[in-house]
Amino acid sequence: MWARQQVAHLRQVSCVCAGTLCFMVLDASYHNLLINLIPALELAGMGNLMSGENSTGTYYRRGPIDLLTEFTVCESLASTESPYMTVLENPIPYGELIGKKLFECGAMHAGCHLCEAGGGYGSLMRGLLDSFGSLIHHVMMIDLSLYLLHVQRRLLSDRAAEILYVNGDIANLLPAVSGVDLIILNEMIGDLDTLTALDARSLPPPVSSLVDRYGFEIPKEGSFNFNMGAILLIEEICRRQIPAFIAEHASDYLIPAEMPYLARGLDENPFPREIRLKGHSEYTIRFSHLMDVARYWGREVKTGALLDLVGIRKSSAMRFVFLAGACATEEQQIILEFLDHAREYRWLIIQ
Ligand SMILES: C[S@@+](CC[C@H](N)C(=O)[O-])C[C@H]1O[C@@H](n2cnc3c(N)ncnc32)[C@H](O)[C@@H]1O
Repeated sequence: MWARQQVAHLRQVSCVCAGTLCFMVLDASYHNLLINLIPALELAGMGNLMSGENSTGTYYRRGPIDLLTEFTVCESLASTESPYMTVLENPIPYGELIGKKLFECGAMHAGCHLCEAGGGYGSLMRGLLDSFGSLIHHVMMIDLSLYLLHVQRRLLSDRAAEILYVNGDIANLLPAVSGVDLIILNEMIGDLDTLTALDARSLPPPVSSLVDRYGFEIPKEGSFNFNMGAILLIEEICRRQIPAFIAEHASDYLIPAEMPYLARGLDENPFPREIRLKGHSEYTIRFSHLMDVARYWGREVKTGALLDLVGIRKSSAMRFVFLAGACATEEQQIILEFLDHAREYRWLIIQ
């Protein structure tokens, strides 16, 4: 009864906020996922109070999004048909690789309730459900973009009864969501609000209190960018003891042990930097700050290079193509493009 009332709230609120009523797939068996959207409404719109802030909200809410312009690792490795599969030791879709990792480290178990925020075209969830669907009891897909939720819903249409689609900002909705066993944030936290050009000697109070509480390393002087939105989201996830998988472009990247040549030419400043994309900018993520937050809340963390997680082929041919930087074939071009893009990506599991 309680669950039904909450879902009824959700219907009304989604309808008011973004007109998503017809879009939602509601399942009466969704008892464990209790959603109270009143706090979400109270929090809504509180995201943009500070100056020097990068926000991508308008971009994602506004209209059709072409993720190919962002070249996400997830889309590059979405299926075994992708030409980028050539970079992997074993051609396995990205969603399956992530599912395997989550299962092996005990973050995903039978009867699991999953939540993915910022699922893009739905490719990660497609691969994960294709291989681990029998373990998953229910999925909630939360996305700012109504357009991308439609794309996800189409791609995952054979699983309609198990998936709830919610149009909203994860930062506002998370405090209201319960009953989730694992949250997946793949290449989306770089989109959350970033405070830019902060003066290290004169921090705004909300930043200095986070720095003091979590003992973040920050520059002693000069200016730097700070992943405020990502840190607050991870703080909420940790406070609520929800396990999480995160993958993103890192400012403090890790280079695979057998591929030191991939560090060539990379920016050595370990603080977030701007990545300019079509119609918006994202910022790289300082992973050590997220890990400081997780440890403060007594959570265990595992992390590594995303290239290692996906099982990158570590051949001399890969090395040659990267170092030569010139391509004679289409396959070489694909290898170069992928390595150059994905070498700074990192994953993090919080349990
Ligand atoms: C760069 S795309 C990544 C998509 C997909 N995860 C992938 O790896 O291909 C970012 C995704 O996050 C969503 N997004 C961005 N900010 C969000 C927010 N605050 N709340 C929920 N979704 C958000 C976007 O609409 C989009 O689906």
